[in-house]
Amino acid sequence: MKKKSFLFSIKLAILFSTLLLLINCNSNNNETGTTNVSNPQDSIKKMLARGDYLVNHVSRCLTCHSQRNFNQFSGPVVPGTEGMGGEEFGKNYHVQGIVYARNITPDTVNGIGSWTDEEIARAITRGISKNGDTIYRMMPFAHFNQMSKEDVYSIIAYLRTLKPNNNKVPARKLDVNAAAVYPVLKSSSLEANVKPDVMEMAKYGGYLVASAACMDCHTPIKNGEYEQDKLFSGGLQFNMGSFVANSANLTPDSATGIGSWSEQMFLDKFKLYRDPAVYSANPGRNNSVMPWTAFTNMDDFDIKAIYKYLRTLPPVKNLVVKYPQ
Ligand code: HEC
Ligand code: HEC
Repeated sequence: MKKKSFLFSIKLAILFSTLLLLINCNSNNNETGTTNVSNPQDSIKKMLARGDYLVNHVSRCLTCHSQRNFNQFSGPVVPGTEGMGGEEFGKNYHVQGIVYARNITPDTVNGIGSWTDEEIARAITRGISKNGDTIYRMMPFAHFNQMSKEDVYSIIAYLRTLKPNNNKVPARKLDVNAAAVYPVLKSSSLEANVKPDVMEMAKYGGYLVASAACMDCHTPIKNGEYEQDKLFSGGLQFNMGSFVANSANLTPDSATGIGSWSEQMFLDKFKLYRDPAVYSANPGRNNSVMPWTAFTNMDDFDIKAIYKYLRTLPPVKNLVVKYPQ
């Protein structure tokens, strides 16, 4: 118990220094008084809550960096495996070779416990690992690159509270040179990134869609590249063996996309999985890789903002059969 509370004090100290750092940089938070120096405990709590929200319900980090249970709908994260990594992604996820989700728990040997905040931020937003390797683009750094500095550092603060797990993840086996396939992103953007005001709902929704990297699953890939004229039009196939699912067309095309969906229908679809009873039965071949059970606890307002943003996309005609067999 003593040791635990000592460790907790250290964690608090680390968080506090991160917080001071953030107070010093330009905060673009919409709420007033978030970074109130006179009450650091509250600010730390707020920062951790934001990190928790983003990691678990928006940026879905743990749905890739943990084990998932595909005996239930949309493969909820297996409790106790949070952040340990090891999931293998290959052809089923259109990877050029094989990559493994890395261990992102605070374990100092096999996780990211010995990384500095700056090194973790660089990995999340620019795809460069601690040792300088280019991270394969399946890790959505190209989208996370649009997140505000405050959001990225909230994510890092939260990751440092995960239970350390010493899982050793195997080395990737890529068929391509990752650095050549995805050139390193420029470094200046994180400083300049601004989280749009919630009043600009569609723009704010666009920020969330980038933070969730919805595009990566919902855009067809040809010759290893996202088809630029078919962004968000779905049809990317995920062949998981026990089921095969094609991603849906999210553009406002009324015949083949979600053009005929009302905001309420969209919201209801996302809210459906808030009750575990709804997803706990094995859906067999009608399963999905989309982490509905993570997204379901997004704020209603945020889900509506995503809907508003999707309405602004150019409609693309692309008929998708969700379950081809
Ligand atoms: C779509 C799945 C996916 C999502 C979502 C995802 N990651 Fe990753 N991440 C990966 C994969 C796969 C790798 C390893 C890629 C490689 O080996 O080249 C990786 C690598 C990393 C690394 C580098 C670790 C190392 O040892 O080099 C960090 C740090 C990381 N992810 C953190 C995060 C955080 C934080 C989030 C959420 C904000 C996140 N990831 C979301 C799949 C994902
Ligand atoms: C890991 C891949 C993946 C990610 C990430 C993902 N999706 Fe999906 N999505 C799918 C697949 C596959 C389907 C088809 C199966 C199903 O309905 O779940 C789908 C279905 C949907 C549907 C249902 C459409 C219909 O016709 O029933 C909506 C709406 C949707 N996605 C929106 C989103 C949004 C918004 C995001 C980001 C917040 C997102 N998706 C992120 C893979 C993904």
